[in-house]
Amino acid sequence: MLVTGGAGFIGSNFLLRMAPRYPKVLFVNLDSLTYAGNLMNLAPVEKAENYFFVHGDISDRNIVRNLFREYAFSTIVHFAAESHVDRSVQSPLSFVETNVLGTATLLEEARAAWNPDEFETGRYRFHHVSTDEVYGSLGPEGLFSETTPYDPRSPYSASKASADHFARAWGQTYGLPVVVSNCSNNYGPRQFPEKLVPLVIVRAMKENEIPIYGKGENIRDWLFVADHCEALETILLSGADGETYGVGGETCRTNLELVHFVLDRVDRALNRPEGASRALVSLVKDRPGHDYRYAMDTSKVRRELGWRPRHDLLQGIDATIAWYLENEEWLKAVLDESWRRWYNEQYVART
Ligand code: NAD
Ligand code: TYD
Repeated sequence: MLVTGGAGFIGSNFLLRMAPRYPKVLFVNLDSLTYAGNLMNLAPVEKAENYFFVHGDISDRNIVRNLFREYAFSTIVHFAAESHVDRSVQSPLSFVETNVLGTATLLEEARAAWNPDEFETGRYRFHHVSTDEVYGSLGPEGLFSETTPYDPRSPYSASKASADHFARAWGQTYGLPVVVSNCSNNYGPRQFPEKLVPLVIVRAMKENEIPIYGKGENIRDWLFVADHCEALETILLSGADGETYGVGGETCRTNLELVHFVLDRVDRALNRPEGASRALVSLVKDRPGHDYRYAMDTSKVRRELGWRPRHDLLQGIDATIAWYLENEEWLKAVLDESWRRWYNEQYVART
């Protein structure tokens, strides 16, 4: 199995789950190690016999082609992406390069490597991991579903929408066995602290100001990362080629509600007076083009594949806070990039 972007947040959680569960599968992790990826995330599987890391860019055709030749992948789970909306506002072209060109490169190299006579036998699968943000912004009512027309509004969501279209086009045109999953906002261990939940936890730990865009009224649907990884495993095992699956927590909160909830749980974990950290919240200038509401209807994946989230918000947030409190070394290492030295000392130097 080729896993792209396995050093990032969701990809590493996926590999940490899957590598021990499937010892007969070789997991090859292709990651270019941007600011968002680090190999500390994968320390528990680093020495596993069925896990292997390759440093490289998914847009590099030669690397991808050579990997297909060397490992004869039958499955690709494609996480690699530029994933942060605020960065896409500042610097959109890297989103086009990785999310659009990189995805098209993987699709094309899979097509070149795989035998079309076996496209319908279940031998191969290209799973493209995407987001509910491709559907745009909801008003106060309604849910996104697999048939909602695409209406991306940020450079990030436009690049993911484009990648989804390419994935489906390779399915339609060439018969490539493609599956797309569109998931809501994830949170959990190993998320880079630029995203809302880890940003709030980390800033609360340090008693730093917590910036909330606009009035904090935007609504997101939150899913614990382990539940997303379980959904991906379920779709890989039981999902049908050519299908799209909407995945989400069905746990919608305004940003202010969510932030207050997280802060109250941090206070509890750190034995601070109840409500103390709420004073850190500061309403700041809104994000340009800020989508108002996302909410995913997950009835298809529930009905057809029997998946449902196992963690409610309280369990997921408490587990996430506990992880960040126990992993201050990780936090420092990913922020100052000293994880690279740590990795070399731990692993490369010995081999
Ligand atoms: P992340 O930013 O934490 O990790 C991305 C990983 O991809 C990093 O390890 C990075 O080094 C790697 N990468 C980036 N560009 C690359 C390139 N050109 N070549 C090779 N590797 C590259 O992202 P994440 O939050 O783990 O998201 C993973 C996937 O899930 C993305 O496709 C994202 O769009 C999707 N998704 C994320 C969320 C969420 O809430 N985080 C929700 C739904 C869908
Ligand atoms: P984010 O975690 O960046 O995910 P996305 O934009 O993909 O949904 O942001 C989640 C929500 O939190 C979004 O409405 C923007 C808001 N937000 C803030 O209010 N302040 C912040 O510092 C950040 C990072 C996000």
